Amino acid sequence: MDLAIKIEAIRTQLHEHAHRYYVLDEPQIPDAEYDKLFQELQALEAAHPELQTPDSPTQRVGGKPLDAFASVRHAVPMLSIRTETDTEATGAQAFDARVRKELGLLELEPPVEYVAELKFDGLAMNLRYEAGVLVQAATRGDGETGEDVTQNIRTVGQIPLRLVSPALGTGVSSLPPEGARFALGGGSGVTSLAVPPILEVRGEVYMRRDDFEALNDKQRAKIAAGAKGEKTFVNPRNAAAGAVRQLDPNIAAQRPLSFFAYGLGEVTPAEQGGPNFDSHYAMLQTLKSWGFPVSGHTCIATGAPDLVAFHQRMGAERDSLPFDIDGVVYKVNPIALQRQLGFVTREPRWAVAHKYPAQEQLTTVQAIEVQVGRTGKLTPVAKLAPVFVGGVTVTNATLHNEDEARRKDVRVGDTVIVRRAGDVIPEVVSVLADKRVEGAEQFTMPRHCPVCDSAAVREEGEADYRCTGGLFCSAQRKQAILHYAQRRAVEVDGLGDKLVEQLVDAQVIKTLPDLYRLGLMALANLDRMAEKSADNLLQALEKSKQTTLPRFLFGLGIRHVGEATAKALASHFGKLDNVIEASVEKLLEVSDVGPIVALSIRTFFDQAHNREVVEQLRACGVTWAEGEPATQAPKPLAGKTFVLTGTFPNLSRDQAKDMLEAAGAKVAGSVSKKTDFVVAGAEAGSKLEKAQTLGIVLLDEAAMLAMLPTQESL
Ligand code: IVH
Repeated sequence: MDLAIKIEAIRTQLHEHAHRYYVLDEPQIPDAEYDKLFQELQALEAAHPELQTPDSPTQRVGGKPLDAFASVRHAVPMLSIRTETDTEATGAQAFDARVRKELGLLELEPPVEYVAELKFDGLAMNLRYEAGVLVQAATRGDGETGEDVTQNIRTVGQIPLRLVSPALGTGVSSLPPEGARFALGGGSGVTSLAVPPILEVRGEVYMRRDDFEALNDKQRAKIAAGAKGEKTFVNPRNAAAGAVRQLDPNIAAQRPLSFFAYGLGEVTPAEQGGPNFDSHYAMLQTLKSWGFPVSGHTCIATGAPDLVAFHQRMGAERDSLPFDIDGVVYKVNPIALQRQLGFVTREPRWAVAHKYPAQEQLTTVQAIEVQVGRTGKLTPVAKLAPVFVGGVTVTNATLHNEDEARRKDVRVGDTVIVRRAGDVIPEVVSVLADKRVEGAEQFTMPRHCPVCDSAAVREEGEADYRCTGGLFCSAQRKQAILHYAQRRAVEVDGLGDKLVEQLVDAQVIKTLPDLYRLGLMALANLDRMAEKSADNLLQALEKSKQTTLPRFLFGLGIRHVGEATAKALASHFGKLDNVIEASVEKLLEVSDVGPIVALSIRTFFDQAHNREVVEQLRACGVTWAEGEPATQAPKPLAGKTFVLTGTFPNLSRDQAKDMLEAAGAKVAGSVSKKTDFVVAGAEAGSKLEKAQTLGIVLLDEAAMLAMLPTQESL
């Protein structure tokens, strides 16, 4: 019948586009186009419910809430794997030695071939396909019996609802093999294998770190708006587990989950036409050709040295991965050898998990200190009993502000879970309520600055308390000096926080210009300051006097005036005095300056002591080339947002940033839907991945340079 064929044709297209979007990160059509097709299918199915099928892409959006999950007995038990006890790289050698011994291999014999994989920190899932259609998804449970979570798993975009045999196929066959050493797995021609009638694929359902952060942001907003029964999640694994075990699939559909395949369950036997893999790696490549996401970090490793190298390499890369891993997994690659090795009790002898230091640890809160930032912002910080977490020793964790500290209800003496994963700063994720010591008091924000005792105020609509002491406050003064001296501001090489601390505490420096009045004597009198370093500092100070107007303006530390605004002000007004005298109206004419920023600049220069600081700095010899107020320089990239990632062949990141900004572009720190271009160099990490997911235009250094105006036209 015509209509049935039409519906099937739309479904096939949608399956293919979903695969390209979620698994390959190479969308071929705009989101709106996909949505249109999807809506067309929805309408057709609504008009003809008899043509509805469980593998239709419309089934990804949820369904009726359940009372409980049904039990599923696994056709093949879901085993776990042994964890190598030696957490050092030598653990890999221990595993190799055991495997070789079991196989009766002597030292002179060739090395064993392994597959090295990541150990994803999520939850194991068994996906059952019959005739290529997803019919059931089950959790591991106790290994024998799990829970039927099919409804929820259907909402995961990366999990195919229907498999297509590449040889017969509609598109998923054109996958380039990801591992260069593909042929070593012994599976020549595997990508043309047909999908067997029964196929169970096993892998890990997990949540990406950025999806986790975004989910928690959403949860926090709901809590702030007074929603009842909402909570934030402790880590991506808990969030993923919560989503999978959610009885209401509509809620599950809103929790962004991802999937990696790493193994098989029940499969039609070879005698009955099922696949006959000769290696684990060939099996993974085939799963990929059938539409499953397989991690690109999976690789063939020859002998113990390759395993050790993999463990070390992934240990170093762990922080920059877009998802949590808790270790790596080694598996013997040839299936014949796996058979020979067999199992001990319930664990295969041919695989082992080799863990990394945990990213979460228990520790205790020794104190809650309040730190004062450059603009007077007061930040509560939990001082922790030192704890080794995520590869570093952590002694501090920010509690952000009063509301956050209250929400988590962290108290002195509490036992807390600290998490450090990726490049995210260490965080207290939760308090163990039953370990609370009696009499522990709730944290309250001080109403006075802990450093200078000036009043601390929290303005209407703001989350932060601020010390009102300004440069009277030595904490703010220290931060102001460090801000002025930083590399992207006026740059005083070698003036670090320890030194500034000493200089301010010893009252050698009270205001910024005092920096330029430092003499060798005063410096040499400081603790731990050798004459040589004192001399170097004086030279660095001398050098810093020759600067540029944008650097100087940025270095003054005017609230809301970041580097980009400082540059815009400098090119708009040309001369410092023009900025100092500009009215709020005039300031508003500068691109990128809004009312809050304009007012902040005006207020800063209205204060006599700030103008005095500027005059004295000039009197001390700080100087720059002043320009003319802007004549319209060409700004071909105005309105465009760039993100830079990785290492470029010729330019430093700062140089690239300067050049883009000079051409009118905005350079942002993270990739979002608003990003127009991502310039990627060598070893680009999660930003590149995110850009690919969002379908943002990627450039290399040369392509970026080609977009800039030539020198003559500037
Ligand atoms: S293989 C028989 N490979 O770690 C082999 N497991 O006990 C079965 N896991 O709960 C597991 N990443 O959920 C395997 N690349 C990977 C894995 C992995 C994570 C989890 C799995 C299981 C536990 C191992």
